[in-house]
Amino acid sequence: MEKKILVTGGAGYIGSHTVLQLLLGGFKVTVIDNLDNSSEVAIKRVVELAGDFGSNLVFHQIDLRDKPALEKLFASTNFDAVIHFAGLKAVGESVQKPLLYYNNNIIGTITLLEVMGAYGCKKLVFSSSATVYGWPKEVPCTEEFPLAATNPYGRTKLFIEEICRDIYRSDSEWQIILLRYFNPVGAHPSGYMGEDPRGIPNNLMPFIQQVAVGRRPALTVFGKDYNTKDGTGVRDYIHVVDLSDGHSAALQKLFDSNIGCEVYNLGTGKGTSVLEMVDAFEKASGKKIPLIMAGRRPGDAEIVFASTEKAERDLNWKAKYGIAEMCRDQWNWASKNPYGYESPDSSN
Ligand code: NAD
Ligand code: WQD
Repeated sequence: MEKKILVTGGAGYIGSHTVLQLLLGGFKVTVIDNLDNSSEVAIKRVVELAGDFGSNLVFHQIDLRDKPALEKLFASTNFDAVIHFAGLKAVGESVQKPLLYYNNNIIGTITLLEVMGAYGCKKLVFSSSATVYGWPKEVPCTEEFPLAATNPYGRTKLFIEEICRDIYRSDSEWQIILLRYFNPVGAHPSGYMGEDPRGIPNNLMPFIQQVAVGRRPALTVFGKDYNTKDGTGVRDYIHVVDLSDGHSAALQKLFDSNIGCEVYNLGTGKGTSVLEMVDAFEKASGKKIPLIMAGRRPGDAEIVFASTEKAERDLNWKAKYGIAEMCRDQWNWASKNPYGYESPDSSN
């Protein structure tokens, strides 16, 4: 019998790529998403890319905080596990609207956990973030580093991690894997799925992409005086397909072991500067990315990259793709869908 997985936030960037992998891996998948930061077109594309497996996907437009709707769903389907992506993720917005973030991310997660517990579904993979390392004193970041959030978004991740650890302490039937993603970029190699942020992008890669397709005139580089190879900030960019594979590996771990509540970094272990990323993108796209060198962005860390040892050892997972492939696939998606899923020019 195929295992049944509930994916919250499955219409979003990382969720949609992961749902595709799950379908191709033979899982039955139910997605819930309120489409606040995504499009149902992403779900349609997943179904098409999954071919014969596409019929194993069910989508419901549900808000995580709608407890009766969640209860109805769990009453109708015995889920074997939940992958929980749903949440708001814009750091700057979280500073402006902290209650929105606490309400959506924390109340949403508590509601989900309550319903899971009530229906005896106690296997969970949760999207945490490298943001819980704050400004790390050293690199690479290992899972044992002290945790420190520097904004409300980061605090929602930190609190949810703690809630999960508490739940496990209270009831050892729970099996929970907390995945700390570093900087997810890239797109499905088909060019048919990718990131489609609403409004002005906060993150580097979507911004570079919009400059390359002519939607914005230049990239503002935040800080050129960091103590790094070229003065710009260094991050651990990871291909979204590798990240999706990491979720399959985590799910497998939940099914094959008696793991309790564990945390794993999902990164490549390699640091790349802003200018290196721009250079790689220019090579992949053949486009010039005009730059405006500016001051540091408040709250930014200097260098962040992952220790990948624990995930390699326990999950038997390792990222395969490098910066060149990330930029190639990002550009393939961008050039075919310059206005994301909603564009009249989108490939179909
Ligand atoms: P995304 O915005 O593309 O996807 C999140 C999805 O959740 C969206 O489709 C949104 O509509 C949905 N959602 C939000 N609140 C909801 C609610 N209350 N009920 C139902 N659906 C809701 O973001 P993503 O990049 O795919 O990120 C997925 C998860 O990974 C998030 O939890 C995010 O915080 C985390 N994460 C992302 C990154 C990153 O840089 N992309 C890094 C680390 C962690
Ligand atoms: C990367 C580098 C910027 C935009 C954020 C969240 C983190 C996680 C991943 C969810 C930095 C520089 C950026 C631009 C720039 N998300 N930059 N010009 O800040 O590492 O992490 O996304 O959990 O929580 O904080 O990613 O892509 O915003 O920035 O120069 O227009 O690019 O200063 O050095 P970051 P990012």
